[in-house]
Parts: sequence; C-alpha cells; structure tokens
Amino acid sequence: MSEILSQVLAALRERRSVRDFTAEPVTDEELNSLLEVAAYTPTARNTQAWHVTVVRGLDKIASLNEAVKKANQKPGYERYREVTKTASYSINFQKAPVFLIVGVDREKSVAPPEDGALVLGYLMLGAHALGLGSCWINQLGVITDEPEFREYLTSLGFPPSHRIIGCLALGHRAKLPPVPERRRDHHNLVS
Ligand SMILES: Cc1cc2nc3c(=O)[nH]c(=O)nc-3n(C[C@H](O)[C@H](O)[C@H](O)COP(=O)(O)O)c2cc1C
Repeated sequence: MSEILSQVLAALRERRSVRDFTAEPVTDEELNSLLEVAAYTPTARNTQAWHVTVVRGLDKIASLNEAVKKANQKPGYERYREVTKTASYSINFQKAPVFLIVGVDREKSVAPPEDGALVLGYLMLGAHALGLGSCWINQLGVITDEPEFREYLTSLGFPPSHRIIGCLALGHRAKLPPVPERRRDHHNLVS
C-alpha cells in the first residue's frame, strides 16, 4: 500500500470528537482547504444540494448559542430542553472559534439526512487531516423550523429551503482525546 493511502487509513482511525480548543484562530486558508475537501462528498443522484454556513468569531457564536438555547425551551422542541437550559451549555464548548451549520435542500436533495451526514463526515475527517479538531453538535437540527430561530438562521445567510442536518464546533485542538472503546461485532459475512 502506498504511504499516502496508509496515512489516509491512519487519519480515519485517529480522528476524534474534540471538545477542547486553543485560542488560535482558524485561517481563511484552513477554512478554504476544508470546504474544498467537502466538495468531494458524494450525494444521492449527485444533487450536491448542501450548504455550510460558517460562523466565525466567539461573539457571533455566542449570539447563535443564545438563539439555540431559547428555541429549545419552546413547547414542541423539548428534545434538548434539559441539555440546553443549563447556564454552561455552549454549542462551541465556550472556545471553538468556528461553528459550521450544515444544511441540505429539502426540495433538491433526494436523501437529505444521508447527504448531510456524509458532508459532516468529510468535514470531520478533513478537519483532522488539516490538524484541526471538530465535534458534531446535534441540538440545532430539531429547531430548524422554529419560526424565530429560522428567522435568525436566514439572517446568517442559511438558505430558506434547507434543513439543518448537523453542525460542527471547529478549531485548533488542545489535545486529541483517547479513543473510546470500539465494537468489533458490527458485521456478518455471507459468501
Ligand atoms: C450524529 C451525531 C451527533 C452527535 N452529537 C453530539 C453532540 O451534540 N454533542 C457532543 O458533544 N458530541 C456529539 N457527537 C459526538 C459523539 O459523542 C462521538 O462521535 C462519539 O462519542 C464517539 O467519539 P469519537 O468521535 O471521538 O470517535 C455526535 C456524533 C454524531 C455522529
């Protein structure tokens, strides 16, 4: 196997969900490299009907955090009520300097959750390969259509026909966490 392919396999094994970040900003170059990798994500029928809103800067992320907390407290959006209502809840673990909101077009994509999850997978692996860290944040998906939150999303440039599939807190990792226990019984072979 070529050296480069061995490195790809190593990156697949080594990527972790990172929740502790340094204060080092993520540069335009790093962001562009990451988004370029994501452009190679396969999508059902090659619709490529996805979008990433990149929120950069702790103040902007803090405002988004408040909107997320508020929407999750409303009737009908109880799924994350408990987790988001604590004072310390933070979509970026108080520190990650970038927050990515990944959406998929409900009208154009033929498989929105699958397309979006794969984009997030490419972004997480791409971030790792670039020396960055990321963690999927799930609490925004369920509030995609809460009217006040949707208005806020629109003000950020998130497309109206898209639904949020998932989000990533992104930054330079303070450390790479240990590997959580992995199962080895996920498969069966028919031959
Ligand atoms: C669909 C999905 C949703 C997740 N949501 C969250 C989340 O909201 N907050 C969080 O801290 N981690 C979240 N995670 C990260 C998982 O906890 C993590 O992937 C898992 O514990 C395995 O650790 P690893 O990514 O380091 O291999 C999520 C991961 C996935 C795939």
